[in-house]
Amino acid sequence: MKQLNIALLGLGTVGSGVVKIIEENQQQIQDTIGKKLHIKHILVRSKSKKRPINITQYHLTENVEDILNDEEVDIVIEVMGGITPTVDWLKQALSSGKHVITANKDLLAVHLRELEDLAEANGVALKFEASVAGGIPIVNAINNGLNANNISKFMGILNGTSNFILSKMTQENASYQDALDEAQALGFAEADPTDDVEGIDAARKVVITSYLSFNQVIRLEDVKCQGISQVTTDDIALADALGYKIKLIGKGTYDKGRVQASVEPTLIHKEHQLASVENEFNAIYVIGDAVGETMFYGKGAGSLATGSAVASDLLNVALQFESNLHTLPPHFELKTDETKEMMESGDETKLKSKESFYIVVHNQGKEAFQLEDDIKAALPLHKTLKVKDRDDSTASILVVGLDESPVKELEAKGFEIEKVYPVEGN
Ligand SMILES: NC(=O)c1ccc[n+]([C@@H]2O[C@H](COP(=O)([O-])OP(=O)(O)OC[C@H]3O[C@@H](n4cnc5c(N)ncnc54)[C@H](OP(=O)(O)O)[C@@H]3O)[C@@H](O)[C@H]2O)c1
Repeated sequence: MKQLNIALLGLGTVGSGVVKIIEENQQQIQDTIGKKLHIKHILVRSKSKKRPINITQYHLTENVEDILNDEEVDIVIEVMGGITPTVDWLKQALSSGKHVITANKDLLAVHLRELEDLAEANGVALKFEASVAGGIPIVNAINNGLNANNISKFMGILNGTSNFILSKMTQENASYQDALDEAQALGFAEADPTDDVEGIDAARKVVITSYLSFNQVIRLEDVKCQGISQVTTDDIALADALGYKIKLIGKGTYDKGRVQASVEPTLIHKEHQLASVENEFNAIYVIGDAVGETMFYGKGAGSLATGSAVASDLLNVALQFESNLHTLPPHFELKTDETKEMMESGDETKLKSKESFYIVVHNQGKEAFQLEDDIKAALPLHKTLKVKDRDDSTASILVVGLDESPVKELEAKGFEIEKVYPVEGN
């Protein structure tokens, strides 16, 4: 039986999970791919570090050249993280004809297109299932399961840490700080939680998912990004009274060749499937023109859950070995009847979907019912659904409008805007 030699860059949370899955399913994997999998090298920062798995049978190295210069290594699995020097090592691996599997969303959010081009030029695979929503096989679902669809929108809970915090604030009325402390104590949040709570981690996944869904490269800095650190229990209670939950939603929409991408606290109607996704779980909701609405749910992180996604890439590469591997689905223009009709009529305003916003304004010393009249007068083209008083000299309003103009219109009429969250599923 032929042997497939693999090398791991990294043996931390994900790397240990990958090794464990390979060890425990060795026979099954061999039967599936018709080859023996051999872990030839594992790169670590420190060989003397204590490991959660038995490593006596493996060649651990602190020198990446052992892997990059080894012509017998067929597949490099990168689970070490970071952008520099990782990206250069991956480029070297691809250039020397090695397949690459990576879980590294930080790196892919910036270098995905470049690495794909390099992989294609060298006739090797670049796979990255674990980079979006950990154990949920969303990359495969979009690339293969939904490739006969034009995808017009995806939105998801893409960061377990922030979802855990918002769940605690919603279910237990915990303050943001108390919920963050608990997340850290349970290992769901890093000592420095900035990337998770400020939406940066989710924005990286939005960049990757937009590329897969719409075949367009968007820059990380073009993702409108707002985290959860400003969300208060007051916001959550008011959203609840209006029939919504607040979730950190990463979203991409495609309209007439244009991609809009965002990560922001969003009011999700309680009956929408995403509203029931709690704690550290992730979920992604994808709309295709043929399939309609779909949703994918599961663990977005963790040793075995993420290891499962990496190992699935490994099997897929092994099964397709030496064939033309990762190709992006062809990109189609949206051509549903409705879109065609609107494009032909030239009526662009109709192309914009109805959007709603939850807006917190300064109350100008007025009661809600007085403000309601002022707000309605300020927004003649929008439907103002609810105006509520808050304890902190502000009032929250729920506005159904065509685009973001309610904000501009309110500002033009002298309203002081404190917060704006989009609303989904109403
Ligand atoms: N953790 C998750 O659940 C999860 C989920 C999805 C995606 N990811 C992604 O998966 C990747 C790995 O995450 P992780 O949580 O497994 O990280 P981790 O636990 O910190 O492990 C990193 C591993 O890489 C090694 N390493 C780091 N820098 C190195 C360097 N310069 N030279 C040699 N070895 C180096 C470390 O060696 P030592 O052990 O010797 O320190 C360690 O074994 C990241 O890109 C992350 O974003 C993680």
